[in-house]
Amino acid sequence: MLRVAVVGSGPSGVYTAQSLVQQDPEVLVDVLDRLPCPYGLVRYGVAPDHEKIKSLQHSLRTVFEHERVRFLGGVRVGADGVPVARLRELYHAVVYCMGAASDRRLGVPGEDLPGSWSATDFVSWYSAHPDATTGGFVRDVRAAVVVGVGNVAVDVTRMLARGAAELSPTDMPQTALSALSASGVTEIHMVGRRGPSQARFTTKELRELGGLPDTEVVVDEAELASDPAYGDPSGLPAAQRRNVEVLRGWAATPARGARRRIRLRFFLRPVGLLAAEGRVGAVRLERTAPDGRGGVTGTGRYEDVEAQLVLRSVGYRGVPVEGLPFDAERGTVPHLAGRVVRAGEVAPGEYVAGWIKRGPTGVIGTNRPCAKETATALLEDAAALARRRLPGDPLDSLRAMGAEPVGWTGWLAIERAEAALGVSLGRDVVKLPDWAALRAAAGSADL
Ligand SMILES: Cc1cc2nc3c(=O)[nH]c(=O)nc-3n(C[C@H](O)[C@H](O)[C@H](O)COP(=O)(O)OP(=O)(O)OC[C@H]3O[C@@H](n4cnc5c(N)ncnc54)[C@H](O)[C@@H]3O)c2cc1C
Ligand SMILES: NC(=O)c1ccc[n+]([C@@H]2O[C@H](COP(=O)([O-])OP(=O)(O)OC[C@H]3O[C@@H](n4cnc5c(N)ncnc54)[C@H](OP(=O)(O)O)[C@@H]3O)[C@@H](O)[C@H]2O)c1
Repeated sequence: MLRVAVVGSGPSGVYTAQSLVQQDPEVLVDVLDRLPCPYGLVRYGVAPDHEKIKSLQHSLRTVFEHERVRFLGGVRVGADGVPVARLRELYHAVVYCMGAASDRRLGVPGEDLPGSWSATDFVSWYSAHPDATTGGFVRDVRAAVVVGVGNVAVDVTRMLARGAAELSPTDMPQTALSALSASGVTEIHMVGRRGPSQARFTTKELRELGGLPDTEVVVDEAELASDPAYGDPSGLPAAQRRNVEVLRGWAATPARGARRRIRLRFFLRPVGLLAAEGRVGAVRLERTAPDGRGGVTGTGRYEDVEAQLVLRSVGYRGVPVEGLPFDAERGTVPHLAGRVVRAGEVAPGEYVAGWIKRGPTGVIGTNRPCAKETATALLEDAAALARRRLPGDPLDSLRAMGAEPVGWTGWLAIERAEAALGVSLGRDVVKLPDWAALRAAAGSADL
């Protein structure tokens, strides 16, 4: 048998495991994750009010129920965990699927003022990630600026605009539900540095903003019209053309005077965050203009937008893992068709898939062909890799090193605890928010 470790149980890890066991009956896969819970960003990124996408977890779980796939949660790889070199000794092959857990920086003055957060922080908080900060995101906030016009920006904007009635049926942790339900945020500015035809959000997600209760979307026609493609969007790809059409419709809709406003702004780039009373009070934006090559140039005209909360949603970023090569520019592990490249040479038995391979873009489904490419490369190398004799079941070695893996039964115990917590709060399933609660729920369930 060929023993493979997949590091990371997000979509790319699960699809890699699935592809391996489907393609080859002689493969055994251990899926390791530093968290005791599987599914990566499907559990800790996909917005809680997107129940249909969240329910993808049901199809991912069938992979863990496969007899040749084993979930080993609570096992970190790299610094403070199982060293990469040791993992290589325990398995014939290792596939790194660690995602991109950090965020890109804006690089402007005031970025670290209290009240300025990365969207990553905010998402982790309302998703109950056990490493999340304890919050205070919306305390005393009337106006928020969300920087960036991708789908994550749309997610966090929507979560700021949702009320208690829409949030309480979700699995959001109780503290985030209480804070967001009590929030006094009435103005949310979502700001793009380029034009509406260059926004990265998808039309379905954009449209959803127009259907939120007690909320209206405000768009300035003159600002949209600075985009050369606005007047005649017929030459745009279909997705961008649809975005422009939705925005055009909103620009033509008179304000209703709803309780909350989402203002979609374009051709504005943040140049600094301004302090007021020891925290962020405004964002200074420079008006930009198209440069004719798809980019923008500054115009030297500035606008200050009041905000007590700034969410920087300008993309995620891969984190280097000790012992693995890392392309600091792209935030990815260098590879050739999924085979890890060390110092210009393919490293035998080491592979990569998902966001840490491609960078932090693409929906859940994008990871399936990506994982398949990697799994196929690994299986092409299988005969050579399987010649090496392993020390035995890697689980024994991991335990001997002090790891205490949470297996599938431990995870199922966490699921039961989350269902019970929901019942006790008069809600549906409610996520456990911290390490202690997760560990206690997983208990000493057998692997
Ligand atoms: C906020 C947000 C919302 C999104 N919403 C949607 C959506 O609605 N629909 C959609 O189709 N796509 C959505 N996406 C995109 C989708 O989530 C990604 O395409 C996908 O999750 C990437 O998969 P991955 O396996 O590469 O990474 P991840 O899902 O991030 O999984 C990585 C896993 O590796 C583990 N890990 C990391 N480091 C280590 C380590 N050192 N040792 C052990 N384990 C480790 C992590 O704990 C994690 O479980 C969203 C993305 C974000 C950021
Ligand atoms: N419902 C869903 O399907 C869903 C939900 C969430 C996420 N996702 C997916 O997850 C992936 C990641 O999403 P994302 O929103 O994090 O990334 P993204 O789609 O790459 O969007 C990043 C945004 O940040 C802007 N930006 C980057 N640097 C900036 C800077 N210095 N100043 C101002 N703006 C800056 C970008 O503008 P420029 O274009 O000008 O660089 C872009 O608007 C995407 O593929 C997304 O589709 C999907």
